[in-house]
Amino acid sequence: VPATGDPPVLVRGIAALWTGRALLRDAAVVLASGRVAWVGREADAPGDLPALDGGGCIGLPGLVDCHTHACFAGSRVDDFARRLAGATYAEILEAGGGIHHTVRETARADLGTLAGLTRARLAGMLAGGVTTVEIKSGYGLALEPERRMLQAAALAGGPARVVPTLLAHTIPVGRDRARFVDEVVDDWVPACAPFARAIDVYCDRGAFSLAEAARILAAGRAAGLAVRAHAEQVTHTGIAALAASLGASSCDHLERIDGDGVATMARAGTVAVLLPGAMLYLRDAPPPVGALRAAGVPLAVATDFNPGSSPVRDLLASATLACLGMGLSPEEALAAITVNAARAIGRPDLGRVEVGATGDLALYLPPPGEPADPRVLVQYLGGHRAFAVFVAGERVV
Ligand code: NIG
Ligand code: FE
Repeated sequence: VPATGDPPVLVRGIAALWTGRALLRDAAVVLASGRVAWVGREADAPGDLPALDGGGCIGLPGLVDCHTHACFAGSRVDDFARRLAGATYAEILEAGGGIHHTVRETARADLGTLAGLTRARLAGMLAGGVTTVEIKSGYGLALEPERRMLQAAALAGGPARVVPTLLAHTIPVGRDRARFVDEVVDDWVPACAPFARAIDVYCDRGAFSLAEAARILAAGRAAGLAVRAHAEQVTHTGIAALAASLGASSCDHLERIDGDGVATMARAGTVAVLLPGAMLYLRDAPPPVGALRAAGVPLAVATDFNPGSSPVRDLLASATLACLGMGLSPEEALAAITVNAARAIGRPDLGRVEVGATGDLALYLPPPGEPADPRVLVQYLGGHRAFAVFVAGERVV
């Protein structure tokens, strides 16, 4: 990721700029030294700077995809067909398919292959204006392949920014559970902590129990990692309340969260990461968004891009699906893929176009015939290409 944005650049002609918190009409932005140096009405913009004319475009902060499994090899197209024919996600997983299938395929790919696949996926996301992608490990299920995934994710970064997370995803079929959790806590966490920003655990049927997940999250936190959890997705376990009580930056999925989980997340300031791709692909019911909103829990939306439960690469399309399937307003959906997503990954400098923030910016033309209103990017389902993208003040698209 480029560190500086010298020389400073003035981006003008932004008919509608969504800053992450507010809408600014006829706006301009100055990016300098990798940051947002100025933002305001174009009429008040400083002169004498090299300028890019947005030509009446829509401007958004560089988008933040705060939950992905974008580093993997192999295909799950057969899972897709089996689930459509009536098998459930948990049944396939417990029978040694699903995540276990991707683990076997990922083990066959060397570091360069894995990094190359991930880089190709990031390129498509960047073209859509996504400048930051959180990528989880979790298809290794042993120390070496987990660390290799984190290294591959890091190698895939630039120009898109990668934020890596160590994910304890599930338990290999036939392994002694207690010994496996010991291995995660005693070996993976210390060895992988230098390559990750957060620890994440999948606590569910077919994966870790609440007690096992608690040990893993506590170990990650003690190693200096932020705490996150795949929480209350297929079954209710109580992990959302537990993770929030450990100070989790996010709890994700939440289809089966209860009132205690919501209240504990609200008290802790934990972000709810909604994953409409997984909800729709698993033909599940939505999480209780009304209760989360009423409690004041910040709402983020991510793709959950992975080959099984959410083969979805388009973050703006995920925002649309969160409106249609979960009841977000277009404004909530825009905040959910910018400022709140940045908070979920512990990077409050991202996801907003405000003075001092990191200089990530994406410019879009509205669909033909539509007004320059950021909400149209959520109204139209996906496929939006940014005609200019800046990462840390540097133009990369
Ligand atoms: O976030 N639910 C568990 N983990 C992932 C799915 C990963 C996979 O199916 O490969 C999720 O949906
Ligand atoms: Fe996930």
